[in-house]
Parts: sequence; C-alpha cells; structure tokens
Amino acid sequence: MTPVRDLAVEPRLVRADWLAFAAALPPSSVDLLYVDPPFNTGAAKRSPPGAAQAGRTADGAYADRWPSTGAWVAWLRERLRATIPALKRSASVLLHVDWRTCHHARLLLDDLFGPASFVNHLVWSYGLGGSSPRRFARKHDDILFYALDPRRYYFDPPRVPATSRRLAGAHKKATDVLDIPAINNMALERTGYPTQKPLELLRLLVRACAPPGGTVLDPCCGSGTTLLAALIEGRAPLGCDVSPVAIRTSRTRLAAAPPRTSP
Ligand SMILES: C[S@@+](CC[C@H](N)C(=O)[O-])C[C@H]1O[C@@H](n2cnc3c(N)ncnc32)[C@H](O)[C@@H]1O
Repeated sequence: MTPVRDLAVEPRLVRADWLAFAAALPPSSVDLLYVDPPFNTGAAKRSPPGAAQAGRTADGAYADRWPSTGAWVAWLRERLRATIPALKRSASVLLHVDWRTCHHARLLLDDLFGPASFVNHLVWSYGLGGSSPRRFARKHDDILFYALDPRRYYFDPPRVPATSRRLAGAHKKATDVLDIPAINNMALERTGYPTQKPLELLRLLVRACAPPGGTVLDPCCGSGTTLLAALIEGRAPLGCDVSPVAIRTSRTRLAAAPPRTSP
C-alpha cells in the first residue's frame, strides 16, 4: 500500500479566478481538464440548511447568475481559451453542465477544439431530488468529453457492475450513461459545499481520462472533489477557485485523504 502523501504529486491549490490562474500555468503541462462551472441557474448557490451545524466543513455560497446565456458562454469561452496553451497535445477536456446550457456548451467546444475532437456526451444519471407533475423529472447532468487530438488521447475504459442476471457479480465496460447516486444528506463525504459532486463519479472520470501520474486541472474546484479523486487515483491535482470557502474546504479534504490502496 502506497500512502497518498508518499506520491511525488503535491496538490497545488490556489485561490484565484480561473482566468488569471490559467494565464500563469506552464505550457503543455495538463493531461486532463475537468470543469464543473456555475450552471447559470440564476440563483445564489448556498449550503443546504444545517450543513455547517452538522459538523461539516463548508458553509459556502457563490453567485450563479449571468445577465444572459450569451454572457455565460462568453465567460466560459474566455477561460477555456486561456487554458488551451496549458493543455498537452494528448490532453482531454471534460465539461460538466446541465440542461440549461448543454447545447450552448457543445457548440462552444466544437468551436474551440473542432467537431472532430468530440469523444462522448456523458450522462450522469443521479436519481435524487424532486419531480414535477408538468414534465419528466430532470435527473441527469451532462459531461462533454473532448480530446485535443482525437488520434492520441489517454483512455482506460472504466468497468462498472453488470446489471443483467446472466452477468450477475461480474463487471462490464461502462456506457456513456453513468448511474451514480448524488450525495445524500447523510453521506459521510458531504462537506456542505453547494453543488458538491460525488467522489465516485470523479474517481471514475479521472481513472478513465488521465494517465497515471498525469496532471488533473480543475479551475472551479469547489469542495475539491476532483482534486481528491486525482490524489487517490495517483494523479497530480491542480486547482483553483475564487471562493475562500472552496479553498478551505478543498484543503481540509486533501489533508485528510485516505491512503491509496492500488499501486
Ligand atoms: C459547480 S461548483 C463546483 C463544485 C465542485 N465540482 C465540487 O464537487 O465541489 C462551481 C465553482 O466555481 C467557482 N467559480 C465561479 N466563478 C469562478 C471563477 N471565475 N474562477 C474560479 N472559480 C470560479 C465557484 O466558487 C464554485 O465553487
């Protein structure tokens, strides 16, 4: 067993705007860019009531409001473009969005990287939450997967438990629909930071899309889920966020990272 802190990968985590952070990155140094930006929900994102009192580390809030979808796209375009020089030629990009902006984000990535760089439109199906009598319940997020060079990018197909009775107990290659529960109120990993994503989802994405020892960049790191996933999976975490609460929460999580069990 290799303890995480014995790895030659020191987490690098800075409180900064993604734009300034991107400009300071060394060229061709990043293997995987994962971005889970604000979704332009039009509301301020707050921790769920009681999260901080329940002994969780974060009681965060961040603005998630742009004057228009066009303004959100322009915000994202500027930051993605500024990050491109830091990406290796073999790098991949995962952009995590939802029904509000997915169609705009797809066009934006086609424009920045070229339509031939498209690899997958992943659906993260999470189940949790309410429903409406007026429509099908919205129960998934969208993760757009692009490779800078579609002929040479890293991919290690993740395996998930098989669901058919014939293959009971076996594993099969994951499809582009990832069935992973959202973090529930009682989950131990819950930090209280709003919009925290499950560690299981990020570990799967990091293992699949970043080579062992490679650098994983999350420039909107929030509670640090991607950085923790990278650390556990033996990749080098690199991140920033504008929110001081996000940086505090990420630092606390990284410092308490469990030992790595696989070589
Ligand atoms: C959807 S949350 C990320 C949640 C994260 N994936 C997690 O699992 O906790 C979006 C994050 O983007 C950050 N953010 C917003 N504008 C930013 C900017 N200009 N530069 C860096 N981070 C920013 C917010 O503070 C927030 O933490």
